[in-house]
Amino acid sequence: MWMSSRAEGVPGSVFALMDAAKSRARARGLNVIDLSIGSSDQSPPEAVLNALRDATRDPLTYRYPLFSDTAPLREAAAAYLLRRFGVKVDSETEVLPLIGAQEGLAHLLLAVTDPGDTLLLPDPGYPPYLGAAAVAGLKTVPLPLLPECGFLPDLNALPEDLRPRALLLNYPNNPTSAVADAAFFAEATAWCRARGTLLIHDHPYAELTFGNYRAPSALEAGLSSVVELHSLSKTHHMGGFRVGFAAGDAGAIAALARVKGAVDFHPYLGIQRAATLALGLPEAVGRAGAAVFQARRDALVPALRDLGWEVQWPQASMYAWARVPDLSDSVAYAVRAAEECGVVVSPGRAFGKRGEGFVRFALVQPPEVLVEAARRLAGVDVGKARG
Ligand SMILES: Cc1ncc(COP(=O)(O)O)c(C=O)c1O
Repeated sequence: MWMSSRAEGVPGSVFALMDAAKSRARARGLNVIDLSIGSSDQSPPEAVLNALRDATRDPLTYRYPLFSDTAPLREAAAAYLLRRFGVKVDSETEVLPLIGAQEGLAHLLLAVTDPGDTLLLPDPGYPPYLGAAAVAGLKTVPLPLLPECGFLPDLNALPEDLRPRALLLNYPNNPTSAVADAAFFAEATAWCRARGTLLIHDHPYAELTFGNYRAPSALEAGLSSVVELHSLSKTHHMGGFRVGFAAGDAGAIAALARVKGAVDFHPYLGIQRAATLALGLPEAVGRAGAAVFQARRDALVPALRDLGWEVQWPQASMYAWARVPDLSDSVAYAVRAAEECGVVVSPGRAFGKRGEGFVRFALVQPPEVLVEAARRLAGVDVGKARG
């Protein structure tokens, strides 16, 4: 009775199904290896925790944070963008703190679109994208990310007359772990500018990159008609802290600030201080955190390949995206894997129609546990899952 059509439009999730399968595995006494959720199992840097602890003892942090109180975090974000990507932003007008990238995206869509506008978004993609689009009353057009194109969209293959209000991209990508180079973003930005489209780049994995690979920023091609969403959830293992920032086109940032002004009061000042400190840490700290996930990739991917799985070799992110062996139904496989051997992965279908046939492994366990997961998967009855 109280469900609005907006709320009703938010799609349900197959993660509830996986949760039930996980419970059944536990009920059977299986020691569950949960690789389904992309939440870092690492701790934030010690200095960040200390900054937060100290802030809780400072009464100045107890009041509502106003926009002017966010200046240190905005300035730290601007300094990070300049240092890391060579991108210059005005910390007053082109940066805004967020309560995480997910909050930022939902409010950005409300801020820059009108109901009925079109949003072009990746398929497969991070599931909350569809919910945020539904809340904003948008018409969604899926942008296929195909293995044969390295999971990058072919914008030139889209209808010539398509003029979406916004294009949403995310590289390093969840769930496929694909990466995009600066030339790709330059092309995507030009495509958007030619159509009056806002490019929204969701960039929470910016620093979760492996070896010599460094992810570019979409803002390197200029700020006009581009907004990038940054998060400290993955890069600094601060998912529970709920903090990030948006940067880019001053008009879009002003619209976002207007909507958020009706909704929230910025993150708690203690969290802002912790995030400000985190963004100023030497690059080596982030590299050490990323190396943990790289070592896990190096353990899991060869173990799956030894079993005959076709798996992407991730250069970034915290996922391995694997084609389900000899199967089309990713949900049936994932349920079977959870129930039979206690290995919980995310079925590709949870990420969109084009995720079907794949499963996503989150690299959230130590290397030896990932190898054990692969070993257990060798025993899953694929024939039964196919049905
Ligand atoms: C692509 C993508 N965007 C956004 C988020 C959420 O980021 P935050 O914690 O900053 O809201 C995630 C988390 O998994 C993600 O994978």
